[in-house]
Amino acid sequence: MSAPGAQGSGGTAGSPAISIIVPCYNEVANIAPLVAKLETALEGRHWEVIFVDDNSPDGTTEAVRAQARQKSYVRGICRVGRRGLSSAVIEGVLSSSAQVVAVMDGDQQHDETRLVALIDAVADGGCDVAVGSRHVEGGSNAGLANAWRHALSNGGIWLAQCFLPVKLTDPMSGFFAVRQETFAAIAPRLSGAGFKILLDLLLSSAKPLKVQEIACGFRPRVAGESKLDTLVMLQFVALLLEKFSHGLVPLRFVAFCLVGLAGVGTNFGVMHLVRFFGVHFSVAQAVGTVVAMIVNFVLDNNFTYRDRRLHGQRCVWGLLVFMLVCSIGALANVGVAHMMYAQSYRLDEASLAGAVLAVVWNYTMSSTLIWRP
Ligand code: GDD
Ligand code: MN
Repeated sequence: MSAPGAQGSGGTAGSPAISIIVPCYNEVANIAPLVAKLETALEGRHWEVIFVDDNSPDGTTEAVRAQARQKSYVRGICRVGRRGLSSAVIEGVLSSSAQVVAVMDGDQQHDETRLVALIDAVADGGCDVAVGSRHVEGGSNAGLANAWRHALSNGGIWLAQCFLPVKLTDPMSGFFAVRQETFAAIAPRLSGAGFKILLDLLLSSAKPLKVQEIACGFRPRVAGESKLDTLVMLQFVALLLEKFSHGLVPLRFVAFCLVGLAGVGTNFGVMHLVRFFGVHFSVAQAVGTVVAMIVNFVLDNNFTYRDRRLHGQRCVWGLLVFMLVCSIGALANVGVAHMMYAQSYRLDEASLAGAVLAVVWNYTMSSTLIWRP
């Protein structure tokens, strides 16, 4: 086999023409097999692969380094204290100086034999983004684990299509190629949260991108586990809301409100539970409020501010400040609602104004005092 770094396809010596960006978290068993697959699929091209790993505890970082020591066309970025597929891809793409970048998963689910077609579609200038689609003729979605994942995927595609400026059968795909400069120009507007970097890219571009779809299979996972969880799904909904409101409603604020709603539910449920044991309403409501604040803090720490997550002792301090901030928010809520009601006697509007003020206060204080950038 020829050495990939020595081949030329328009790139200057030492700077590959193609970068394959691979986000990976706990994929230790997939690294070496994926590199071997890329060597075959991209033979004769001038390419490199950039693994972006979030300091995986399973040894992925070492597996990438072991490959990189032997092969000049393997590079690794290891991020510490950060998590997220989309943000990993953004950092990988921005670290590349290739003309064309292709993004694919690190678990061998994407069909690497389609890479050349994706790259050439972009390099020829025929389109801005070439997307590996499971839903055009010849594509397949066989690798999705079960009927639930199929339903989720189809629901997500339908929802995304409602927002998209371009026609696309598989906007949820994480397998695509794009010119590096196109991506870099859009990068400052990307939200970077969650799993759906392609969707983020399409929704964040100032002008609709020209997209071409290329049939692609999606294999079952052979090693490791999927990282898709409820939080990632909520981040998907929040991404659509942020983009739909043209950034007026920041993703983090949407997440904060969703968590707040969960808090209202918790407060309600706990209050009823405590009342069930014959406790006075005021005490039951107080217990419900404290539990709701703790639940909100945990959710915000793991979801809303996932990238700024507090650990250990800072977590305890954070919780205390959070409870103080929320208590002041609650007082302001009641105070403003009371003032407005006294002036207008409009119950609903007064109540809503109080609630909005409290949410904005809690959010602003949380973002600046507790989970500082
Ligand atoms: N660096 C980093 N950080 N990588 C991550 C993280 C993270 O927090 N979370 C997931 N990844 C990596 C995984 O290690 C894997 O290589 C890739 O991102 C995809 O993650 P999976 O957990 O395997 O996702 P999936 O199989 O459920 O979903 C995939 O299929 C979708 C098609 O519906 C993803 O590729 C999606 O992008 C794709 O749209
Ligand atoms: Mn996967």
